[in-house]
Amino acid sequence: MKLAYCFLLLATAIAIAISGHSDARYTIGVNYGQLGDNLLAPHEAVNLIKGMKVGKVKIYDANPAILEELANTDIKVSVMLPNDQIIPLGMNKTLAHNFVLTNISSFYSNTKIRTLLVGNEILSASNETWPYLVPAMINLHEALRKHKLRKVKVSTPLAMDLFEGSLFPPSRTSFRTDLIEPVLKPMLSFLDDTRSFLFIDVYPFFEWEKNAANISLDFALFAPNATIYKDENGLAYHNLLDLQLDALVTSMGKVGYPDVKITISETGWPTKMDLDERGANVHNAALFNRRLVRKVLARPPAGTPLRKGEVFDTYIFALFNENLKTGPMTERNWGLFYPNGSKVYDIDLTGHKKDTQYGPLPPAPPEAAPGSLKLWCIANSEADPAALGGALSYACGQGSADCKPIQSGGACFFPNDTISHASYAFNDYYNKFHKSGGTCVFGGAANLTTEDPSYGSCNYAPTLV
Ligand SMILES: *[C@@H]1O[C@H](CO)[C@@H](O)[C@H](O)[C@H]1NC(C)=O
Ligand SMILES: *[C@@H]1O[C@H](CO)[C@@H](O)[C@H](O)[C@H]1NC(C)=O
Ligand SMILES: *[C@@H]1O[C@H](CO)[C@@H](O)[C@H](O)[C@H]1NC(C)=O
Ligand SMILES: *[C@@H]1O[C@H](CO)[C@@H](O)[C@H](O)[C@H]1NC(C)=O
Ligand SMILES: *[C@@H]1O[C@H](CO)[C@@H](O)[C@H](O)[C@H]1NC(C)=O
Ligand SMILES: *[C@@H]1O[C@H](CO)[C@@H](O)[C@H](O)[C@H]1NC(C)=O
Ligand SMILES: *[C@@H]1O[C@H](CO)[C@@H](O)[C@H](O)[C@H]1NC(C)=O
Ligand SMILES: *[C@@H]1O[C@H](CO)[C@@H](O)[C@H](O)[C@H]1NC(C)=O
Repeated sequence: MKLAYCFLLLATAIAIAISGHSDARYTIGVNYGQLGDNLLAPHEAVNLIKGMKVGKVKIYDANPAILEELANTDIKVSVMLPNDQIIPLGMNKTLAHNFVLTNISSFYSNTKIRTLLVGNEILSASNETWPYLVPAMINLHEALRKHKLRKVKVSTPLAMDLFEGSLFPPSRTSFRTDLIEPVLKPMLSFLDDTRSFLFIDVYPFFEWEKNAANISLDFALFAPNATIYKDENGLAYHNLLDLQLDALVTSMGKVGYPDVKITISETGWPTKMDLDERGANVHNAALFNRRLVRKVLARPPAGTPLRKGEVFDTYIFALFNENLKTGPMTERNWGLFYPNGSKVYDIDLTGHKKDTQYGPLPPAPPEAAPGSLKLWCIANSEADPAALGGALSYACGQGSADCKPIQSGGACFFPNDTISHASYAFNDYYNKFHKSGGTCVFGGAANLTTEDPSYGSCNYAPTLV
């Protein structure tokens, strides 16, 4: 009895050592994005990363200055091949070889480069690159082996737009048919053969935001009291992240690869939002990321209902708020730090601190129920006039706004100026396309308002969000 128990312990210890997986030190990472013109220099940024005691960092290129700063640290590094190099490297092994030589091999002895990611969310972009993705992964893998850089795994981060229809219930999900044969099967086969990981960017925030009427915020935020979601197969989901991961596991199983290991290449929660977004504030972001870290680092690992006990290495998005990202306000506000290096909120990435051990958070501002807020999208009076004119032409042209009312004789022709005309066109565009993802941005030339801009017989339709 005793001896058998000893063997069991030994076997477990060996299994842990071989998988290299249960070392909690390397489970949490941070995404160091650089789409800001006001970010700390690599030296200070790397000091912030060291200060947080994370085991991993992921960058969106192979920036030599950052790789130098990470030299002689214990931090494992994930580097990325830019999207525009996938086609050339997929076609030409020499170029893949050169990339490995210049951008990996020369740093490898001092910097712990452990993952090479081939492009970023490439399946969310135009399909021209798709046929070259797996060939590029194979060429890079071969080049790494040739240089004896055996510790570097090759993968590519995917987004959660891989699925046919809804993620509810997760047991019924499947991959989009346009992706399966051309890309996903060859990719999963490659990941399986090379014992690499499927990298997935998985954001409960977006899934919840898309369907806030049917998914509770508590479920997205790992609240201990969240209502449990029961799948048809009897599995119980306590949070949205597990449900999203199991949708992926189910879909992988349906194409014949149920066991490929998963890494969460991005997740997080934004701290600031536009009027037509919801849920993004410091309160929710702190709760999400603090609970995420404790969940991921829990030992024994919880895993998900379909992957019980599995450790999911997780990179939080992001180190900094990045002011050059376009799109809605949330895009520029995912950081744990402001660009100057001061904290957006307090977070312990080693997972030791409980919610109750942190100081008080700013309360979450009250939010309108989904569909109850009336918004209008109007011209930003501070915008550059030329930009405003360009955006107006876009809205009335490609944007398919109805611009008849702002033509001579129309109800909104007067006042006859660009700001008034742009306001009408922006609002019509936003009203038509908000539901399908249209935003009130127009390169910064538009602003949302809760005040009805209608006048006389000129009517601005409100958008309910
Ligand atoms: C690869 O290294 C070269 C030379 O240092 C550098 O100019 C280039 O930006 C690097 N590539 C990436 C993707 O960072
Ligand atoms: C591959 O790239 C190398 C380096 O640029 C070039 O010399 C070679 O001709 C290319 N091979 C093919 C088949 O295009
Ligand atoms: C890309 O999309 C077009 C249009 O839907 C289709 O005709 C083509 O076959 C697709 N190519 C790939 C590689 O999937
Ligand atoms: C919420 O779920 C119900 C029932 O499944 C569905 O009819 C409705 O369209 C969903 N609402 C949203 C906003 O998705
Ligand atoms: C869960 O608890 C939070 C506060 O901790 C509360 O705001 C929320 O309403 C509770 N949710 C449920 C479903 O009881
Ligand atoms: C850093 O930036 C934040 C946000 O802009 C600001 O509130 C804070 O005062 C700045 N801290 C320092 C030390 O400049
Ligand atoms: C409207 O404004 C344009 C541009 O300023 C001007 O050329 C045009 O004469 C105006 N039309 C009327 C009817 O005021
Ligand atoms: C429009 O929004 C921008 C960015 O949020 C802001 O700086 C600007 O003051 C707003 N303009 C108006 C007229 O409200």
